[in-house]
Amino acid sequence: MSDAAEVSRRNVLITGGVAAAAAPLLRGHRTGPALILRPETVAAPPPEQVHVQFGADAASQVAVSWAAAAAAARPRVRLGDAEHGFGRYEEAEERVYTEALTGEIVYTYHARLGFLAPDTEYVYEVLHDGAPPVAGTFRTGPRGRSRGFRFTSFGDQSIPAPVGLGLGPATANAGYIVDAVDALDPLFHLMNGDLCYANISDVPVATWASFFTNNMRSARYRPWMPTAGNHENEVANGPQGYLAYQTRFELPDNGSAQFRGNWYAFTVGPVRVLALNNDDVCLQDGGFSSYRRDHVPGYQANGDNPYITGYSQGLQRAWLEAELALARTSPEIDWIVVCMHQVAMSSAHFNGADLGIRQQFLPLFDAYGVDLVVAGHEHHFERTFPVRGVLPGSTVLTPAPRGSDPAEIDTRDGTVHMIIGGGGHSTPTPLSDFDVPHDGVLIVGVGPGSPQAQHPTITVTEPAPWSAYRDLRTPYGFASFDVTPVEHGGTTSITVTHYGAAAGSPGYAPLDQFVMRKPLGPEPRRAERRPERAGSAAR
Ligand SMILES: [Fe+2]
Ligand SMILES: [Fe+2]
Repeated sequence: MSDAAEVSRRNVLITGGVAAAAAPLLRGHRTGPALILRPETVAAPPPEQVHVQFGADAASQVAVSWAAAAAAARPRVRLGDAEHGFGRYEEAEERVYTEALTGEIVYTYHARLGFLAPDTEYVYEVLHDGAPPVAGTFRTGPRGRSRGFRFTSFGDQSIPAPVGLGLGPATANAGYIVDAVDALDPLFHLMNGDLCYANISDVPVATWASFFTNNMRSARYRPWMPTAGNHENEVANGPQGYLAYQTRFELPDNGSAQFRGNWYAFTVGPVRVLALNNDDVCLQDGGFSSYRRDHVPGYQANGDNPYITGYSQGLQRAWLEAELALARTSPEIDWIVVCMHQVAMSSAHFNGADLGIRQQFLPLFDAYGVDLVVAGHEHHFERTFPVRGVLPGSTVLTPAPRGSDPAEIDTRDGTVHMIIGGGGHSTPTPLSDFDVPHDGVLIVGVGPGSPQAQHPTITVTEPAPWSAYRDLRTPYGFASFDVTPVEHGGTTSITVTHYGAAAGSPGYAPLDQFVMRKPLGPEPRRAERRPERAGSAAR
């Protein structure tokens, strides 16, 4: 069979019929043999940990990334689609880093594919000379409001089984959740930070490998887009500890070579997604690892410091404001979604929310009408009413709710925040950490600390009228978001469903649902949003 015929046949399987009907065929296709079997030797290191990411324009740009145990010869991607066959090769860039703890060299490869057709299924092979290929597929995003789609999100996943000394978290649910997400066939998935907790492991490279190998059964078929949490801060791997994260992912350009990948944006249909790195603005000392302190060679002599608050010196915030201004005035964008790690509100005595986020980011979310924030860090599920501004008289910038209907929300009134931190960590937020009655918990500062001793957090409680729903009993879960770009009557909506599972259970059931809906077109309240909050943003 010719390559073109092979691609064409597979795409008939993949694209024929509605998504629901195609899913079993697609799944069968995934478990089948690689696209092209070659008789070559397997002496060379094979591609592993394959995953895809959207570029800045999801309708036309996708990156394929992978790792190898040693330097690969001629790393490249062979791309095909039903119309053109396997006519296209794209060379991959090699990016390498050395793990400061162990001295291991990690080889990663990234092939950037541009000029793709929107809303189109592609097949690809990852190739090294002398190694068997690894096949995958992806679908590009729709253009504009042409078609609805689904995305999913969770944070704080960890890995499915312990590695090394077992210092980092690992649960069966960290594996089960991959299948649960994949079964919903999302166009893409958002990972809200604390990906695999490599920073507290004695074997960080193996931890990353376990993470990508676990997620690969979904992430090589659909983008799993990350944001960096405090546990991506692996002190001594680069100036802020993010070198592994930055090297392993190929993310849209943010204009800064130094901070590439730490924050970025991409567009899918009428949705603009902004991924942020909250360690830049948080007051808490979240990246500290006593294992790295005690075992990274030269930790003290080199002045390594995991407390990185303010590291971008305002660069990220300036980028965010420019991006928000662009998105909010774009006639193409109806929804602005922020993906970040630490939270602006929480009603659990777990980590707590962080005042730094309220000072630096929330005024911008208010000024430019961010619709939705997805986060993690707190290892449970909670969501807010739309919030904008602060409660009168609040000294800690407690966000003010602008609605009281937990089921249907008009995000012209404010931003909905979601904590989706039940990805799989072995310590979910315990029931005893929730206040009754329902208070908010906020980190307002830190006590003395140093690179050798974590700064203790200083917390206060506050009223929590912003809290619309929290799940105290279901430790693990994720959310799905069904985007309907155009509805009868001239509205657009996103239907949100939270799926939860018991510890040790692969059964994820829908437990909570709400709808965000607003009219299409210019937002009548937009002008009202700007002045008062933009001025307070510099606090
Ligand atoms: Fe976490
Ligand atoms: Fe965290």
